[in-house]
Amino acid sequence: MTVSTADNTPLSSDDTSQVKPLRYPVICIDGPSGAGKGTVTWRLAQALDYQLLDSGALYRIVGLKAFEAGLITADTNQTIDETAVLALTQSLEIAFVPNNKSGRVDILVNGEAVGEQVRNETVGGYASQIAVFPTVRQALLKLQQDMATRSGLVADGRDMGTVVFPDADVKVYLTASAEARAERRVTQLLNAGQTADFEAILTTIKARDERDENRTTAPSKPAEDALLLDSSTLDANTVYEQVKKHCQDQGICFNS
Ligand code: C5P
Repeated sequence: MTVSTADNTPLSSDDTSQVKPLRYPVICIDGPSGAGKGTVTWRLAQALDYQLLDSGALYRIVGLKAFEAGLITADTNQTIDETAVLALTQSLEIAFVPNNKSGRVDILVNGEAVGEQVRNETVGGYASQIAVFPTVRQALLKLQQDMATRSGLVADGRDMGTVVFPDADVKVYLTASAEARAERRVTQLLNAGQTADFEAILTTIKARDERDENRTTAPSKPAEDALLLDSSTLDANTVYEQVKKHCQDQGICFNS
């Protein structure tokens, strides 16, 4: 598997030929879906001119491709063939391309745009099913770490501060109540002209939290040295300003 980034240089999991610079700053924003990590991460990356690692997208892509290959279904009680999911993971070429229009990162898999489909709740469920596999996580680990060897990095995920970048300069664990996150999702869907069932969304969110927080390998939890921030009653701008202040306190310089 390879992952390439905005400058289109592929990162290969077995490329050991390059001499790496000592260290670029790394900011980790971990926490559950819907807590506002994506917005903060994007704004920090823009303000600092750092690269952005949307690690959830990696797991979502593997989940989606595993579904398309018939390796998983929506049934969370099924037995999944970890070896087959690993082989699939290793066969993927992924590119992240920042999209200033949408304020998100476009994702290409084997040269093709995966589109917004990868962001939906169903694919989030597939992602969390394959994210329990240690071998799949291991296959994605070095690729994620390599993204910090070329420029400053803002990394969004569950285990950025605990496993992927334990020496990061800044660690934030951004959370919010499941109810607040479900309400945000409902608003998002209604604004997009879609229907939304609060109770169904809340149940899905709780099930995914439960799986992510209780898996054996790299469970979603705050690093010991992370700033804990609950965004349940905060707007996105307030969250950003608080995270920015914390970054500055940790020695990260913003131009504006
Ligand atoms: O953050 P996002 O909702 O896109 O993540 C989708 C799923 O991918 C999560 O529910 C989690 O199971 C998995 N994930 C993970 N580790 C990460 C990022 C995401 O296990 N660093």
